[in-house]
Amino acid sequence: MPEQFSPKILGFLCNWCCYTAADSAGVGRYQYPPNLRVIRMMCTGRLDPSFPLEGLAQGADGIFVGGCHPGECHYIDGNYHALVSASLVHAVLGRLGIEKERFLIDWASAAEGPNFVKIITAFTKKISTLGPLGRAEGRDQAELRRNLAAAAETARGRKLRTGLINAGREMMKTGDFSRTAIAGLVHDKCDKALSELSV
Ligand code: FES
Repeated sequence: MPEQFSPKILGFLCNWCCYTAADSAGVGRYQYPPNLRVIRMMCTGRLDPSFPLEGLAQGADGIFVGGCHPGECHYIDGNYHALVSASLVHAVLGRLGIEKERFLIDWASAAEGPNFVKIITAFTKKISTLGPLGRAEGRDQAELRRNLAAAAETARGRKLRTGLINAGREMMKTGDFSRTAIAGLVHDKCDKALSELSV
């Protein structure tokens, strides 16, 4: 009988909300899939787009970023900047032919243990359905991981960083924090640098 696929999921959780929510879910004995490996950060604003790309390159099948609800970031606008980084990650995954659903950014406050459980359970189910990296994509896994590692390197480079900073500045200027508007800004400011990605 073939062994059932159990996805590896890497989570970047904000200390002030999702990390605490995960903790309280454990204390409250809410059950959720054991697939999540957590990296705690003080704010999702610390998320560099190279982190999730590197995580996928190093063996994860899905990446989750959990932060404070919009308007509730302890550092005011960190989670809005995380949305800019997330949009760039999605753009890179699209270019590499990788399912964008392998990367999720969502919110749960410290008091929302059950909400965190709901989000992470649904995400784990989604990644289980997609299968190991490469299966849903119909591509060779080793090749995808190599491309992801190269993309992480590009994301650490000056050109993409500059594009990302400019997209973030523009977002703050317009005050439009919708995911669609942010994706448009990332497209405008980063697409040229992204076109240099080798796939
Ligand atoms: Fe939680 Fe910024 S402090 S997302």
